[in-house]
Amino acid sequence: ARIRRYKWEVKYEYKSPDCLKKLVIAINGRTPGPSILAQQGDTIIVELKNSLLTENVAIHWHGIRQIGTPWSDGTEGVTQCPILPGDTFTYKFVVDRPGTYLYHAHYGMQREAGLYGSIRVSVPDGVAEPFPYDYDRSIILNDWYHKSTYEQATGLSSRPFVWVGEPQSLLIQGRGKFNCSLLTSPSLEPGVCNATKPECSPYALTVIPGKTYRLRIASLTALSALNFEIEGHNMTVVEADGHYVEPFVVKNLNIYSGETYSVLVKADQDPSRNYWTAVNVVSRKPVTPTGLGLFNYYPNHPRKSPTTIPPTGPLWNDTEYRLAQSRAIKARQGYIHPPPVTSDRVIVLLNTQNEIDGYRRWSVNNVSFTLPHTPYLIALKENLTHAFDQTPPPDNYDFVNYDIYSVAKNPNATSSSGIYRLQFNSTVDIILQNANTMNVNNSETHPWHLHGHDFWVLGYGKGKFDMFNDPKNYNLVNPIMKNTVPVHQFGWTALRFRADNPGVWAFHCHIESHFYMGMGVVFEEGVEKVGELPSSIMGCGETKGFHKP
Ligand code: C2O
Ligand code: CU
Repeated sequence: ARIRRYKWEVKYEYKSPDCLKKLVIAINGRTPGPSILAQQGDTIIVELKNSLLTENVAIHWHGIRQIGTPWSDGTEGVTQCPILPGDTFTYKFVVDRPGTYLYHAHYGMQREAGLYGSIRVSVPDGVAEPFPYDYDRSIILNDWYHKSTYEQATGLSSRPFVWVGEPQSLLIQGRGKFNCSLLTSPSLEPGVCNATKPECSPYALTVIPGKTYRLRIASLTALSALNFEIEGHNMTVVEADGHYVEPFVVKNLNIYSGETYSVLVKADQDPSRNYWTAVNVVSRKPVTPTGLGLFNYYPNHPRKSPTTIPPTGPLWNDTEYRLAQSRAIKARQGYIHPPPVTSDRVIVLLNTQNEIDGYRRWSVNNVSFTLPHTPYLIALKENLTHAFDQTPPPDNYDFVNYDIYSVAKNPNATSSSGIYRLQFNSTVDIILQNANTMNVNNSETHPWHLHGHDFWVLGYGKGKFDMFNDPKNYNLVNPIMKNTVPVHQFGWTALRFRADNPGVWAFHCHIESHFYMGMGVVFEEGVEKVGELPSSIMGCGETKGFHKP
């Protein structure tokens, strides 16, 4: 195993990812930031300098479990104090499993300002992947807003609530193309939106005819559920969130924010032309145009657009189709880690949209999550009992009587910074239960992401979870392990995990605005087993005196 050192500087810069000039947060001048390429067992050291001038930052290593290093999880308010402007913070952790992972900002809504990138962990020397391919490529999908994150966050926390609407563009590996002629503002300086900038040319994936490509596709959208398609090519799904999948073939792939997949694609079509790669919004009525890139057959020119019509994806409101694809994902034969057959605790998490004192919020079991000023990890280790709400949130809601198909009669919720304390090494089941939002006949897709663990996906269902019958149909034979999973509209998703990683871990909806509006919980387990905390994570809230330089 090797040590891989990175020196990153985080800074605001002007960029034009979709042709419109905008302030973005870049790492070493780039968005997406530099890729971390490592091998299983390597130690990653990232020395992060915050040059945002007036803004804090923290970076989360999405999918890395941080076994033995819970303070390196990068979750502001949970595992560390934010990194102050001008400060340098060092993250150090081991990438203990091969697979496809991500990193992104975990402070406020900075992720959608462009602070993200990919982590690719390869198998150790002498170990073979269970499928052959010739080349390996990483592609991050994202949605893109023209309004600043500050303007968005201000709207979300205003009364009445101001919603930014659908994103302007979809980006493939940081690139998209906004139709500049749609901009009517007379105050716009010339050149601010310019489709001829090289920066806003579509992402081209150049392929050699006959070769097989492993595409590591990840989504870090702020809002959108996406569908990814390569015109005229099938894809074989082989990995999800770092776990091998029993291979299955798709024409297009649904992908939710925080998920990663590897697909194999063979360049086996007519090589005399290029093909579209297309990203379409699903689950919400699309307003954002298709995001396009090129599947470029060498030696055709990488900027030569196909004359064909780009794929428009499946019907955006075909929930059945998406549910079926979710269900098709099974652990690969020979790589199955069977789950414990029973669990010690079942926590049902009802997802609702609410109002608190006229402010729009998202809640779980009627509790809207608020981050404390003192990170939990420090508060728990140092016994700072005033740092957060000591009452845990409920394990359940009024299961029998709650009508998930209607707008809640009483949409009021409470807010709290309370957490779930799990018994170390116990097995926990989580039932994510979706419901109607504050609009009639409306339910949204929520991709839930768990820090510090992988969980088994035991099942997905429609409607209200049936405590008695649904568990009988759990897949205990070959469930896939993941770190992010969608709960579909008006449906439920059941997960199981072992609380075996000492630390404090966030579990939240990966939609940036939803987490910001309270859609998350925090789990603590075995915090007494956590080693001495580095003083570099301290300095905020009640830990001010603890910051020893
Ligand atoms: Cu990728 Cu807590 O998020
Ligand atoms: Cu959500």
